[in-house]
This record gives sequence, C-alpha cells and structure tokens, in this order.
Amino acid sequence: MTDIPTNEPVLSVRDLHVDFSTRRGALKAIDGISFDIAPGEVLGVVGESGAGKSVTGSAVVGLIEPPGHISGGEIRLAGRRIDNLGAEEMRRVRGKEIGMIFQDPLTSLNPLYRIGDQLTETIRTHLPLSARAARARAIDLLADVGIPAPEQRIDSYPHEFSGGMRQRVVIALALAAEPKLVVADEPTTALDVSVQAQIIALIKKLCAERGTAVMLVTHDMGVIAETADQVAVMYAGRIVEKGPVADIIGRPMHPYARGLMSAIPSLVSDADRLVQIPGSMPRLASLPDGCAFHPRCDRCFDICTTLRPEPEPRGARRVACHLYTHEEMAS
Ligand SMILES: Nc1ncnc2c1ncn2[C@@H]1O[C@H](COP(=O)(O)OP(=O)(O)OP(=O)(O)O)[C@@H](O)[C@H]1O
Ligand SMILES: [Mg+2]
Repeated sequence: MTDIPTNEPVLSVRDLHVDFSTRRGALKAIDGISFDIAPGEVLGVVGESGAGKSVTGSAVVGLIEPPGHISGGEIRLAGRRIDNLGAEEMRRVRGKEIGMIFQDPLTSLNPLYRIGDQLTETIRTHLPLSARAARARAIDLLADVGIPAPEQRIDSYPHEFSGGMRQRVVIALALAAEPKLVVADEPTTALDVSVQAQIIALIKKLCAERGTAVMLVTHDMGVIAETADQVAVMYAGRIVEKGPVADIIGRPMHPYARGLMSAIPSLVSDADRLVQIPGSMPRLASLPDGCAFHPRCDRCFDICTTLRPEPEPRGARRVACHLYTHEEMAS
C-alpha cells in the first residue's frame, strides 16, 4: 500500500533536540537522539517517568507545545522532512500519514460527536470518498478493531462505550486514513488490566497487516517483549541502548537497561516498576556531568563522571556506555 522502497525507513529521526525554554535557560528534554522505524516494524520506547518518551512522540507528530521546541536535528517521514513544516501542513501529515493513539481515548474522541461522524470526517478529509463510501469504510474499520455490531454502534457517542471499546474506536480513527506510521503513547495505561493485552495485540496485528510502522511508548516490559521488534531505552533525554528486542531483553548491556529488564516479572502497576534501580532520574535542570546515569550506576568508573558516552554500534545494537567504549579501562 505504500510507494516507498522496502528498505527505506518510514520514520527517521536524526540527532533530535527538544528544549523547554525557562527563565533560567533551556532545559534539554531531548538531547540528541537518533532512530529509524522500518515499514511494519514496532519500535518500543521504554524508560522511567520523565525520560523523554512522550516528548519524543510529540516531536514526531508535531505537537510540542511552547515553551517546548525542536532545537536541532531532523525528523523524516518516508524520506520527507517533517520537523520544519508549517502548522497547517503538519496537521495534514498528522491526520493522513501519522495516526496517534494516546493513553486516554477521550483525548482523541469528541464527546459531542457520534463516533461514525468522527470516523467519516477523518476518512473524507484525507481520502477521496463519497459520504456513503466513507461510512461503509468506517463500519469496516470498526469491525476490524473488534466492535460488535458496527452498523449499529457507529451511531453511538463515545460515552456509550467502555474504556477498552473506546480505545478500539481510537485505533480505528488512527488507521482511518491509512497512515504510514502510528505513534502510540501508553495506549493501555488507562484501561482495565483485563483488556490491555487485547488492545496491544490489536494494534500490532492491524499495523502488521497494513505495513504500518509503530512507535509504541510504554512502561510495560511485558508488552515490549510481546510486541516490539526493536527497543529504544531512554534515560534523561537520551537513548542509552537500542536494538532488537531479543538482545535488549535477553542480554541488556547498558546498566540502566539491565536494571529495567530485571523489573520484567513485575505486574503492570506503576508501584511495582523499577524497584531494582536505587535512586531516581535527575531533574533536567540539574543533570550530572558525564553520563547522566552515573550516580545510580553500580558499574560507574572515573570517566563516567566527566565524559558523556555517545551511542556506539555493538553488533545489531547501539549502546552509550563507557563500559563498552573503554572496556580495557573498566576491567
Ligand atoms: N511543558 C513542559 N515544560 C517543561 N518541561 C517539560 C514539559 N513537558 C515535559 N517536560 C520535561 O521533559 C522531560 C520529558 O518528559 P516526558 O513527558 O517526555 O517524559 P516521559 O518519558 O513520557 O515520562 P512518563 O513515563 O511519566 O510519561 C521531563 O523532564 C519533563 O519534566
Ligand atoms: Mg509520557
């Protein structure tokens, strides 16, 4: 369904910087991150609260709010630069080429509209279809996302659905214009635990069928293990390790990634995560010199306190840690 060569990434982010201007200077929320997502691939983005996962997603979809702004780098969608588009053009890209799924389905659904009206409006804004054909497509989409009796439910209002069913509607809406990329930020956190796995499985299945690339932000390492092809581990606005899911989960290299993975058996609830890493992430206004993780790192050595490690290739992954760039010194 896409006209891009199979080896060209759908999304390509290069040396992205996002700053939040404050009276005391610029806070570097995202400080030079790079990653690609191939067609049909799911990139899982993980890391503690405040790591920069949502800001990265917002940058990709062009929704960073002032005082935040992209202060450097490039974002390309199917080869085309999108980080420097005007608001109107970016709005078109967002509806047509990038679908979005957020934590709370009600942020994407207008409570005053029947869901069918929202779906057909989105479809007709982006695809050349008659009202009738758009409605038929909306019903098909609702069936695809597992809404029972979609011919009837299409005329319901958002409040007439359960949380899980609402998120299914949001997924239908995100896919309505056949986007190349879906950005999903904690898409199941607000839902009942019993439906979380179904919703994630649904996103994965529908995007795989359509060749849609997915950026999936989640705290839930279980979700990552089952869903992601590649994983990016973020810490304090940087990607500290990125690579194939089996590598990152099976043999994490960065000490922070190791700590995260040791939290896998925990349940989904926030209280359970990350208990294994002592301390907390530094505030952006007071990042330590060198590696931002060094004050919490059990493998820290001299250079880590002064020189920031850059991501270096390690087989199929990239790791930003002096343990590997200066192996002889660490041993
Ligand atoms: N409007 C804002 N003004 C100032 N700083 C902000 C703003 N929005 C986000 N930040 C900062 O950017 C950093 C990254 O935030 P972000 O929301 O991306 O974290 P996250 O990884 O999504 O966390 P969570 O897991 O809690 O959703 C944080 O330090 C946050 O304080
Ligand atoms: Mg977030």
